[in-house]
This record gives sequence, structure tokens and C-alpha cells, in this order.
Amino acid sequence: MRIGTIEVENPLFLAPMAGVTDWAFRTICARLGAGVTVTEMVSSRALVYQDQKSAKLLRKNAGSICGAQIFGNDPDIMARAAQLALEISGCDFLDINMGCPMPKIANSGDGCGLMRTPELAGEIVSAVGKAVNVPVTVKCRLGWDKGSINVLDFAKRMEDSGAAMITVHGRTRSMLYSGVADWDTIGKVKQCLTIPVVANGDITGGAAAVSCARRTGADGLMIGRSVFGDPWIFQEVSAALKGEEYPGRPCLKDRVAVAVEQFRLAQEDHGEHIACLEARKHFAWYLRGVAHSGYYKNQITSLTTMEDIYRVAKDVVRDLQ
Ligand SMILES: Cc1cc2nc3c(=O)[nH]c(=O)nc-3n(C[C@H](O)[C@H](O)[C@H](O)COP(=O)(O)O)c2cc1C
Repeated sequence: MRIGTIEVENPLFLAPMAGVTDWAFRTICARLGAGVTVTEMVSSRALVYQDQKSAKLLRKNAGSICGAQIFGNDPDIMARAAQLALEISGCDFLDINMGCPMPKIANSGDGCGLMRTPELAGEIVSAVGKAVNVPVTVKCRLGWDKGSINVLDFAKRMEDSGAAMITVHGRTRSMLYSGVADWDTIGKVKQCLTIPVVANGDITGGAAAVSCARRTGADGLMIGRSVFGDPWIFQEVSAALKGEEYPGRPCLKDRVAVAVEQFRLAQEDHGEHIACLEARKHFAWYLRGVAHSGYYKNQITSLTTMEDIYRVAKDVVRDLQ
């Protein structure tokens, strides 16, 4: 598939997830088989007001095609923010968040709130498209709630406004992250559009990816929560889509080594203190399903230095391998 002018050889996408898919984790996922990554969402207003924290979230990772994601509802501010996001990051494409369901965002007309104002959403895509020289893409949901599912018309409008690709998360705003993602409706979107469509929601492993690809006919697949602590899911999905046998996850020692490498990258990116706070949740995810790991998960909740991380990692491998 292509995102505008960009040829995508491996259409497996890592979903943008605020608080999770920072530069370190995106780097790891790209190394382990994500073909496309997207930064955590960044507020267009914050960028325009030169908030340094927001700018830092946009760091482009190596090893994959990488998009920068922004949210907002003012076409001029979005256009300016898009330019800034690309100047700061050098990302390959610019993604507009039209799916965020959080009340603070959606109720003020940003994120999924834009699905209630399709005309404005179209103006934003067109304004951003004029302001930047990389492909502009959109990520949306099925609609605001089950009584107002409008993704077919909405997606068509995004295409007509110049979007180069659309990712559809098969839930409504009111479903948040529960209930089952509706892949059939994503399939209908695919049939209505000529730009590539990426399917998202509930791709939990190889078998789910194969059914989702069949049911939607989508050009790409985007994986969200199932990647927590499991960046190897891209290898599993890739093998399943090719009809190949997947040999299984690496052994615990090698998985822990990848986790530690992620935390080392996070330290390089935002310093030891924040890296250790972030590592608390990621490390616990990496140990999910590991027998007798409860004791170590407890220790992980109070990690404060990289030395703590190295020590726990060593103990885990020694005791649980
Ligand atoms: C913690 C978390 C943070 C998220 N942050 C973003 C975000 O910044 N931008 C975005 O477009 N979607 C965001 N999402 C939505 C995911 O990209 C994805 O659409 C959703 O999780 C559904 O995919 P899944 O069923 O594979 O998890 C977030 C989801 C989670 C769980």
C-alpha cells in the first residue's frame, strides 16, 4: 500500500497510544516488525504556544515509517501546528486525531468530537494539506455513539478533502475501549474509498489479524493494546498473514533484555526519573503471564533508578527462567 507518496512495504501499524508509545517503545516495535508507527497525540494549541513537553513527544523513531499525530479543531491552528510538528520531528506523514473519546477532548469538539462536525473536519484536512508537504492522514472511529454512526460519509468526506489514508477504529466514542470492534463496518468503508484504509480494534494476535484482514479487506492493520509488553506480536501477525508457522515468543531472558533495552532508550530520551516511572507499567506488562512473577511485579511498582531496573531484571531471569 501507499500513504500518498510513501511506499509502505510492511502495512502493520503500531497504534498511537498516549502514555505508552513514546519514542523508546516505538523504536522497539519498529525493530521487531511494526512497519508504521505514529507518535502519541499532541495538542495543536500546545504546539503553537511552544509547549516544550508536547514537542518532545514528537520524536521520530528509526526503523519504520513514522507519522506525527496532532489534535485540535481550529483549521488555522491545526495548519500551523502541523507545520511545527513536522519541523520538530521530521516525520514522514501527519496524522489528525478524530477518534479520541476522552470527555475533555471530545466534548470540546476535538478528537472524536470532529465526527459530529464533518464539514469542519474536512476544512481541517484541507487546511493542513495545504500547509504541509507530506501526506495527511486521519484516524477516526465509527461515530459518536450507536445512534449516530456516520463513518461511511465521514471517511468519504475526508478522502474528498485530501486525506491520503484513513484509519478506522471499529468502535464508537461512547464505547470507549470496551465492547467488540465492528470490522464489518470497516469493510464497508474500504469499499467506499479509493485511498487506503487501515483497520483497528481488537487485533489481539495472528488469528484475529487474519480474520480482520479477511472481514475488512483493509490495506493495513493497526495494533493497539495487545502490544503492551508484547512487541513480538508484530512477528506473530506477520507470520499468520503469510500463512507461516510462528515459532513463539523468545525465552524470558531475551524478552527481559528487550524490556531493559526499552528502558535504557527511555532514559536516553527523557532522563532516569521519568524513564523509571514509565518502566513501572511497561515492566509489569512484560511479565504478564510469567509464573510466580508477583513478587517482582511488586518490586517494579517502586522502581526509581536504572540500577533498580537492572537488579530486578537480573533477579527475574535468575529466578523465573
Ligand atoms: C492508553 C491509550 C492511549 C491512546 N492514545 C491514543 C492517541 O494518542 N491517539 C490515537 O489516535 N488513539 C489513541 N488510542 C487509541 C488506540 O490508538 C486504538 O485506536 C485503540 O486502542 C483500539 O485498538 P486496540 O483494540 O488494538 O487497542 C489510545 C488507546 C489507549 C488504550
